[in-house]
Amino acid sequence: MEANMPKRKEPGKSLRIKVISMGNAEVGKSCIIKRYCEKRFVSKYLATIGIDYGVTKVQVRDREVKVNIFDMAGHPFFYEVRNEFYKDTQGAVLVYDVGQKDSFDALDAWLAEMKQDLGPHGSTDNIVFVVCANKIDCAKHRCVDESEGRLWAESRGFLYFETSAQTGEGINEMFQAFYASIVDLCENGGKRPVTNSSASFTKEQADTIRRIRNSKDSWDMLGVKPGASRDEVNKAYRKLAVLLHPDKCVAPGSEDAFKAVVNARTALLKNIK
Ligand code: GTP
Ligand code: MG
Repeated sequence: MEANMPKRKEPGKSLRIKVISMGNAEVGKSCIIKRYCEKRFVSKYLATIGIDYGVTKVQVRDREVKVNIFDMAGHPFFYEVRNEFYKDTQGAVLVYDVGQKDSFDALDAWLAEMKQDLGPHGSTDNIVFVVCANKIDCAKHRCVDESEGRLWAESRGFLYFETSAQTGEGINEMFQAFYASIVDLCENGGKRPVTNSSASFTKEQADTIRRIRNSKDSWDMLGVKPGASRDEVNKAYRKLAVLLHPDKCVAPGSEDAFKAVVNARTALLKNIK
């Protein structure tokens, strides 16, 4: 049996699972859990000190699932407390604040921290991850858009939900899908079932869209050296167009990336003799 397979009380019916929350301080981890478990929202910030622990019961199809929730403190100060709690986890809720780019950029570091603490023999392959793009009620301050978050999540085979702990939007749907995936994983012998979303586009497409978003100018976007010839620009353009054409690519953000590439090519060709 896999190291972090959950304990089954009665085969086929009852399950006991462990889930954790991860993400920078103040992104709303505790509020998301409170909204789901207690149906309320607290607007005053009360930082989690180390770890908060709670138990809840949910029904997924014919199974009663007992969930042990470990809500982690996001502040770096609590690393020493957190690192004990990564092991034997079946599900992780990864949260960022859509108005704080830093908290989105930090998701990679959170995964790295988890992998490091699971050690060389630990694996994240048998853990269900759900990414919560939280605080969507603060639309005015939003700086990480849906396609960017969805791309990050789905290119890794993670679930993605837009949530607001304040209004409750997306919270129940997120937890239902999360727990259903964990039950699927348990029924699948501890292996993450292949989801449509993770199989519908390639890593190359996801990486290319991310690179295009972060490119500093049109040369960089097409992946050619400044001063490249018309031929070189056209060749680079064709390669990207085949990869990202909206008829072929369903990765989140591919349409915008394709348009950006078309515009970059037009702008460059205008100035090349
Ligand atoms: P740490 O425990 O320090 O890691 O923080 P946390 O991620 O648990 O954040 P917490 O849930 O305590 O929320 C931080 C602040 O954001 C609080 O003031 C919450 O009221 C607020 N907040 C949380 N979720 C939302 C949301 O969806 N919308 C809005 N507008 N505010 C939110
Ligand atoms: Mg907290």
